[in-house]
Amino acid sequence: MAIPSSSKEKKILDGPKTSAFIQTIKSFFYPFKSLKINYRKYGDIFSAKGIGDPPLVILSNPQAIEQVFTRDQNLFEVGKGNLAAKPLLGENSLVLLDGKKHQKNRQLLMPPFHGERMKSYGQLICQIAEKVISDWEIDKPFIIRDYTQKISLRVIVQAVFGVNKGKKYEELIKLIADWLNIFNSPLKSAFFAFPWLQKNLGFLTLWAQFLQQKQRIRTILAEEINEKRNNPELLGEDILSLMISVKDEDGEPMGDEEIKDQLMTILFGGHESTASSLAWAFYWIHFCPEVKKKLMEELNAIEDFKDTNAITKLPYLSAVVAESLRITPVNLFTFARQLKEPLEILGYKFDPGTMLVPCIYLTHYREDIYPEPHKFKPERFIEKQFSPYEYFPFGGGNRRCLGSAFALFEMKLVLATVLSKVELQLLEKRPVKSSRRGMTFTPYGGVKMSLVRIRNGVLS
Ligand code: HEM
Repeated sequence: MAIPSSSKEKKILDGPKTSAFIQTIKSFFYPFKSLKINYRKYGDIFSAKGIGDPPLVILSNPQAIEQVFTRDQNLFEVGKGNLAAKPLLGENSLVLLDGKKHQKNRQLLMPPFHGERMKSYGQLICQIAEKVISDWEIDKPFIIRDYTQKISLRVIVQAVFGVNKGKKYEELIKLIADWLNIFNSPLKSAFFAFPWLQKNLGFLTLWAQFLQQKQRIRTILAEEINEKRNNPELLGEDILSLMISVKDEDGEPMGDEEIKDQLMTILFGGHESTASSLAWAFYWIHFCPEVKKKLMEELNAIEDFKDTNAITKLPYLSAVVAESLRITPVNLFTFARQLKEPLEILGYKFDPGTMLVPCIYLTHYREDIYPEPHKFKPERFIEKQFSPYEYFPFGGGNRRCLGSAFALFEMKLVLATVLSKVELQLLEKRPVKSSRRGMTFTPYGGVKMSLVRIRNGVLS
């Protein structure tokens, strides 16, 4: 029997028909609303357009996402889609690389963020958290994101340089924090959403200010590289030492520009997302009293605070962190995967050049996977294990976040340390919304809180 001609035909992908300009404006100003509307109208695979972008396909179908994460990764190009990050991180940044070069750099940068090397930071993370919150005063309001940023920045500076104290590191920490604060509002974040705005129009513009501060940061990094190169006895287990010592197969060391770009990638990637994710976790814990009660019961039972590895395995704490990353992911999408060859997924045939974009936000809000998706329910992560295509706050495949294990480790230790030292309260009158901050999303206003009392009287 002849196959009916319709089944041989190309399945046509649906999506909004408005111009690239309108779609870009909508997704910039109303990212959550426009995604939800498109999901309701067109389903879990739809096409989209952006100014100057190749055809986009937004995916929140786990089977399709599985294809993107598990197919031969040479089918895709990722670096080009991340060009907006070039002025921030530099052209040699891991996020801009593809192929062998990407693989080699990933292999080099991976070990410090996993296994025993990562675990060796446990005590230090707790000490840094305790030190940073030591200026809190009872009933004096503060913005929790300012503090989670101070903690995560200090932690990553320690991992990169092997030190986090001293005049030059204090200067570096302040410079990086001020630098990223330039883009702390949704409107100012437009510089990263629309790379054509990235123009130096004189000393008064934000972009000019951004470039100036970046130069200062890179000068400090150059001084650090020189110091370690000229004094081999200073080489240690830190990431900078690793980069200076490594040689490629021809025996060539990494060049200074390449080292600086990778340092910027780790310094930036290694703290911005963690700071926002931690601020969200503090928010949710205090927004849901029953969650806080259950979590405190678990934390109060910790006998040995030195056993940081055991703390990071606590089931309810782990579920709270997982649920916080589900309900308020700081990245709405993974990196876009641009096809180098034609590919068929679930009957749709995609041409070379198409950008496939797994959508973390829409997938994390699927009712069939997460009943009552708007409710903060850590229990769902205790009752069920989700697949890496249903739950992926750190992306997947060969681009999966390099620091995912480290970020989870850090988040759990900071929450456990802070919550067992102090009792906090939320001062927000309304539910806090997620808003753009540079290339990621963060709680709007940073979450206002105050200190109610000091537990056990120990805030050193
Ligand atoms: C809660 C905190 C964090 C979140 C939510 C997060 C999320 C992500 C996501 C969604 C991606 C894209 C993955 C993909 O497209 O498949 C990514 C990539 C990346 N992340 Fe993270 N991240 C976090 C913390 C960190 C930390 C602590 C580091 C420290 C090194 C880091 C370094 C990177 C790097 C270097 C990449 C690029 C990987 C590549 O291109 O191969 N991130 N992250």
